[in-house]
Amino acid sequence: MSAQLDVSRWDPSDPAFRADPYAWYGALRRDSPVHYREDVGWVVSRFDDVEAILRDDRFQVATPSPWREAVAAATSPALGLLGEHSLLFLDAPDHTRVRSAVSGSFSRSRIARLRDQVSATVDHLLDQVDDGEDFDLVKAVAEPLPTLTVTSMLGVPDADWSQLHSWTVDITGFDELPIAWDKLAAADAAATEFKAYCDELLAERRQHPGDDLVSALVASTVPGGGLDDDEVVALLMLLLIAGHDTTLSLVSSGINVLLEHPGEAERLRADPGLVVSAIDELLRFESPLQVASGGGRWPTEPVTMHGITMEPGTPVRLLLGSANRDPDAYEAPEVLDLSRQGRPHLAFGRGTHFCLGSVLGKLEAQVAIPKILDRFPHLTRAVEKVEWRPSFTVRQLTGLMVRP
Ligand code: HEM
Repeated sequence: MSAQLDVSRWDPSDPAFRADPYAWYGALRRDSPVHYREDVGWVVSRFDDVEAILRDDRFQVATPSPWREAVAAATSPALGLLGEHSLLFLDAPDHTRVRSAVSGSFSRSRIARLRDQVSATVDHLLDQVDDGEDFDLVKAVAEPLPTLTVTSMLGVPDADWSQLHSWTVDITGFDELPIAWDKLAAADAAATEFKAYCDELLAERRQHPGDDLVSALVASTVPGGGLDDDEVVALLMLLLIAGHDTTLSLVSSGINVLLEHPGEAERLRADPGLVVSAIDELLRFESPLQVASGGGRWPTEPVTMHGITMEPGTPVRLLLGSANRDPDAYEAPEVLDLSRQGRPHLAFGRGTHFCLGSVLGKLEAQVAIPKILDRFPHLTRAVEKVEWRPSFTVRQLTGLMVRP
């Protein structure tokens, strides 16, 4: 199919592309692996190139001027905080300092301790819909699970999750390619309220420290501790945002993919030991983040790839979703194979900014997806066609009505 597509006609805003990007990715990889568009910058689509750039120090994430000024002029201090101080927009040495303050809390051993709690949360969410009626799997499980998990790490009341969820949706809605300027006002308002919430949380934990992640971060703000208040607030906002949309996508599109591949779903039901490679394959097959971090990578010097020179001052967009379907990296990439081995996918990025929450995101899916399949052995989709969120950066279902 990609043989007929003319990349000069590729439009990342086209609803048809957003609903099914894979044929266009194929055309980009084949005909224009380093592709320029005025509205988004350089678009890099092959696995080897995306991986190389993620590991290349000549590409940084801090937005340079005059872009920085343009963004700052259009946004409030709260949204600016996220763009200036959060990990995804920091380069070394600041990135190293901030990340090291929080990385211990996301280590494999610390996250493993959350398994029972994630398991209990999934059981509870499934109990509420286990009455034989059709239900929306996004609303019932995929949406609440990630926020409930992160809120419990932060020691935030469960009751706050839907508020946090709606701020997250508003803030990430603006972070599109091309940038969704019409959603900026909503993003700005949400960021302002979200920041006020985080400021209050910080003040409260300063007074009453507990055994939670916020208290640990507050402890990092003492002199010599390494972080300042703005950095902690930006980190809290990022954790809630980054851990939410992505895991929601993994659980819901993961189930959707399995319902479209009943043979693979049966394999997983029959062999629970398959779960680790299964979740990685689902991450490869339908990557929650289709494009690496919203701000893009910025070359610090001219860099030439496939005869094309990317100059400083223009952002470079890395298509993770395309890289993970690259036939030069994977045999039969369009085939779902839950026992697939081979090159580790790029769904969590690579290098310096490799996803801080990868172990947590995978744990949630490793628990939730088998539980959903086991609880409902005859699960099918209750609708013929699913709707995808009209986004280029996030691959996410707007809902998933299922029949138990
Ligand atoms: C399935 C779930 C997830 C996916 C697919 C995912 C994907 C990613 C990707 C691709 C990046 C790198 C972006 C880049 O290099 O530009 C990233 C970074 C990040 N992720 Fe995740 N993520 C997931 C879950 C989580 C969770 C659960 C958390 C935390 C609660 C989290 C927190 C972060 C943070 C803080 C960063 C920035 C790291 C840095 O810049 O050093 N993510 N994620």
